[in-house]
Amino acid sequence: MDRRQLGASDIWVSPLGLGTWAMGATVETWGHVDDRESIAAIHQAIVLGINLIDTAPIYGQGHSEEVVRKAIHGRRDDLVIATKCGLLLPASQGEDPARCLKKDSIIAECEQSLRRLGIDVIDLYQCHWPDPQTPIRETFEAFSILRKQGKIRAVGLSNFGCQQISAATEFGVVDSLQPPFSMLHPRASEDLIPYCKEHNIGFLPYGPLAKGLLTGKFNEESTFEDIRARDPEFLGNRYRRNLLFVEGLSEIAKGYGKTVTQLVLNWTMNFPGVTAPLVGAKRPSQVEENVGAIGWDISTSDMARIETLLGGSTSDA
Ligand SMILES: NC(=O)c1ccc[n+]([C@@H]2O[C@H](COP(=O)([O-])OP(=O)(O)OC[C@H]3O[C@@H](n4cnc5c(N)ncnc54)[C@H](OP(=O)(O)O)[C@@H]3O)[C@@H](O)[C@H]2O)c1
Repeated sequence: MDRRQLGASDIWVSPLGLGTWAMGATVETWGHVDDRESIAAIHQAIVLGINLIDTAPIYGQGHSEEVVRKAIHGRRDDLVIATKCGLLLPASQGEDPARCLKKDSIIAECEQSLRRLGIDVIDLYQCHWPDPQTPIRETFEAFSILRKQGKIRAVGLSNFGCQQISAATEFGVVDSLQPPFSMLHPRASEDLIPYCKEHNIGFLPYGPLAKGLLTGKFNEESTFEDIRARDPEFLGNRYRRNLLFVEGLSEIAKGYGKTVTQLVLNWTMNFPGVTAPLVGAKRPSQVEENVGAIGWDISTSDMARIETLLGGSTSDA
């Protein structure tokens, strides 16, 4: 499988990354998740050539990182392990995580992530969300210390806007950005993608399948009890409009003998300026299907058909 350079760093990643949020999550967040299936899904991803695995301490209060540790044991060499800092685990269930990008906190978080992941160095260490209370200079002091100690290789930002990225780059190199970006939420194409292209910052969009909505597996009768029950994309007229959109995509996918999921991921990974979308998966069969998005092209005329469908269907105002 091809590799794509992450910004100007010496890190090269597969055109799709594996997201492991759901692997750490509770039933209320992502429905039923089985650790053995999660580990098998990571193994399958590695076998099929995916080398980028994204996690975070907040995914299941450390559980996702622990699942990743079990899965990568003995297979770590060619992998790019990306985790995050800056969302502190809540003291008790039901509380929101606090944002904290203070130097001492990041250094302590890094130690904990290294331990949970069972590795000596984190390949990509990302600020999960901006922390307006902490000067970004202080945050980058922590990254500089951790780099010198050999505990992190590259630094990324997640959920930062262009001005916030620009402010950060005054204090150190930003190797990647991790924002939301999908066919349903393409707003990043207006500002973040051009910004990252211009400044040679790797672009790792999350949520490319819109929590599974863009896989074509849902219909008018589907009901939701997890995170999707609270997502406006899964409600009322918007949900019905999304189903029609996916139906339109399905017609195009059939022309290639591909599934909607594969068409959507192909479009996302080949969007100019995108380095590698992070796709969430819970089981090996999902990973297998997702990897089928790689290695073929959507024709110019079908790109135009997709543009037309997108014209009536994006949720970004
Ligand atoms: N930085 C941030 O703030 C942030 C925020 C969100 C996500 N992320 C990262 O991005 C990753 C991906 O985002 P995401 O998980 O929210 O959304 P996503 O990739 O758009 O959707 C993932 C969900 O789609 C379904 N799915 C995946 N492959 C499938 C297939 N082949 N067939 C059918 N269903 C399939 C699975 O759901 P079911 O099996 O449950 O139906 C899966 O959990 C996360 O895991 C995380 O690493 C980062």
